[in-house]
Amino acid sequence: MDEIVESESGHGPELATMAGYIVNKAAGEPVFKNLEDWKSVEKGLKEDSDRILGGLPGYDKTTGLTVQARRAIAVFDRRKGTDHESVLSSLGSALALEIISNQSLIPGEKLALIDSANYGISIEDPEMHYLKEHWGECGAEQQHERNVVTAIETCSGEVDEQIVRSGVHNFLDALVCLWDVIDAALLNSGYSAAA
Ligand SMILES: [Fe+2]
Ligand SMILES: [Fe+2]
Repeated sequence: MDEIVESESGHGPELATMAGYIVNKAAGEPVFKNLEDWKSVEKGLKEDSDRILGGLPGYDKTTGLTVQARRAIAVFDRRKGTDHESVLSSLGSALALEIISNQSLIPGEKLALIDSANYGISIEDPEMHYLKEHWGECGAEQQHERNVVTAIETCSGEVDEQIVRSGVHNFLDALVCLWDVIDAALLNSGYSAAA
């Protein structure tokens, strides 16, 4: 689990650069002129979130988080608990997160952003380094999924499967709500990718 924490820290700047790069490609013009200035990219993306999601009930303009995003984050707050039940539940949430990341989120990003050819982006573009690092058989997410499975197997004998399952469900329920609300908001945003 320490390996996952280490691997997942400090992605903010790379994710901002990647997101800004995709926005520039989609717009066909440099909306974000300096992609290395990740703070200004984040600021611009936040303004877009405010514009597109700002009308949703409970959207927090300070953090840019929807109610559903806050709920998903709260599931992981349980990591702070060190009692047996909290640890097992957190392992369940981590298992769900890593399986979704490895088998759905990252492959989905590769399919939608690269393989679709909608944006004229290659996974070899330096701005796409985050995706390149996380995608595929040797990617970080594959390793994370194996790490969590090992962590759960390692505590076998004392694992209450019901508690692990509840952690899985808590995260998946929150994630589904988040995706639904984002889907609905984006479908109404008026944007359509150039053919
Ligand atoms: Fe990562
Ligand atoms: Fe991961």
